[in-house]
Amino acid sequence: MQTKFCLVLFSLLFLHNTEALGPVGVKTETFLSPPFYLKPGQVANKYYFDIPFPKGHIAVKSFNGEVIDESGNPVPLHETYLHHWVVERYHGFKDSAPGDELDLSKIILVRNSGLCKHTLGQYFGLGSETRKTDTWVPDPYGIVVGNPEEVPAGYEERWLLNVHAIDTRGVTDRLGCTECRCGLYNVTVDEYGHAIRPNYTGGLLCCYDETQCKMREGFESVTRKLFLKYTVEWVDWEPRIVPVKIYILDITDSGTNSRQSCKVEYEVKECNSEERANGDCVDTKITRLVIPHGGDIIYGVAHQHSGGAGSALYGQDGRLLCTSIPSYGEGKDAGNEANYIVGMSTCYPKPGSVKIADGETLTLISNYSSNQMHTGVMNLFYILVAEHEQLPPAPPKNMICFNSLISWCIEMSVKTGAVLVAGVSLISIATMGFSRLYHKNKYEALAGA
Ligand SMILES: *[C@@H]1O[C@H](CO)[C@@H](O)[C@H](O)[C@H]1NC(C)=O
Ligand SMILES: *[C@@H]1O[C@H](CO)[C@@H](O)[C@H](O)[C@H]1NC(C)=O
Ligand SMILES: *[C@@H]1O[C@H](CO)[C@@H](O)[C@H](O)[C@H]1NC(C)=O
Repeated sequence: MQTKFCLVLFSLLFLHNTEALGPVGVKTETFLSPPFYLKPGQVANKYYFDIPFPKGHIAVKSFNGEVIDESGNPVPLHETYLHHWVVERYHGFKDSAPGDELDLSKIILVRNSGLCKHTLGQYFGLGSETRKTDTWVPDPYGIVVGNPEEVPAGYEERWLLNVHAIDTRGVTDRLGCTECRCGLYNVTVDEYGHAIRPNYTGGLLCCYDETQCKMREGFESVTRKLFLKYTVEWVDWEPRIVPVKIYILDITDSGTNSRQSCKVEYEVKECNSEERANGDCVDTKITRLVIPHGGDIIYGVAHQHSGGAGSALYGQDGRLLCTSIPSYGEGKDAGNEANYIVGMSTCYPKPGSVKIADGETLTLISNYSSNQMHTGVMNLFYILVAEHEQLPPAPPKNMICFNSLISWCIEMSVKTGAVLVAGVSLISIATMGFSRLYHKNKYEALAGA
């Protein structure tokens, strides 16, 4: 009798608990950046301080964006190439006037967990692949921000958006313009007036804000008014959320912390005739980096540019941690543009199954097609890591109750010598469910008791 009573109670609690799980309170909001304007062939590289962002102590679950026009239509990459967007967290002085924050000494940037010390401090960021790349942070994890205790007195938490977009309507060389070839931009000095060294053939130094790529003779079209539309999903902070750290690994990081390290961009040389004959036109770049604090990898994704052929991250013993492969579009529509990377595959290891140790040396590999040369290419690898030191999330209240009830029932069952019956019944409940084991009237009688 006692055993039966236990089983009924199990079931009641089990059913109750399922209901309590319900929707998890994910909130979604979509925002627009300030507008930016592009003439055919022109570049916009804009920095917007204090952009709209969900307020309060929250855990961000996803962040994604795309470029839209004035009517809200998605703009395809072959018209406006989205080189990158990045979103940085910072603490800004509460009483700052608009424009004050352009002076970076007046704000406190809150960088991600590494590893580059001077570049790549962002929390979120992608490029052309943004429309089809998964950024969801699985439960119970979240990117925890907005904790008022972390904000110095007189400051508040804000967000900075950098959008780099290149209009390629009517240009002579679409790929060249998106790869920022210096020759196409007729640029010999950088944004700050410093001479660009002669062997620098392409990259961000040559396609700064308001530069102009080479146009086909006589091409004319309208100036476009554009926005970055971005969508944030989040939950309000609560103790069951396990915070994750953001690491951004850069293939050009030599691990030396020198000026030659963390250059973000690199060049891919065209393969030679022998390699071409062997069908071997793949440029593979490798770097080894030490991660100071390990933990469980719960998400991974790479960022590559056109020509990218995949990236992988390995542990010190050579085990594969995550592979991220680009997918290329096949048509004309936004999200499916031929010759552009429209998405990157992601890794969602079963939590606890992919661990890295404190101080472990990781190996990052970047493959690019070398059928033709590429300038200003990138290979970043974002990983979200839940550190080991953290306590596991506290079980919900009725789970504790459920667990203690199990021990109580096992104890009772032992006392009545019904261990076997309890065991078999438990398995039956798990597999068949309550209703097939018990008649409704018994359920109600007990529930009402
Ligand atoms: C390139 O720049 C130089 C000087 O900055 C200018 O004189 C020349 O006309 C430019 N060429 C083109 C094709 O725009
Ligand atoms: C350009 O030349 C400098 C030395 O003058 C060298 O350090 C650098 O690696 C070269 N860059 C490229 C892309 O060849
Ligand atoms: C990179 O290219 C090498 C050589 O072609 C290949 O063995 C490796 O599997 C590739 N890795 C990824 C992640 O694409």
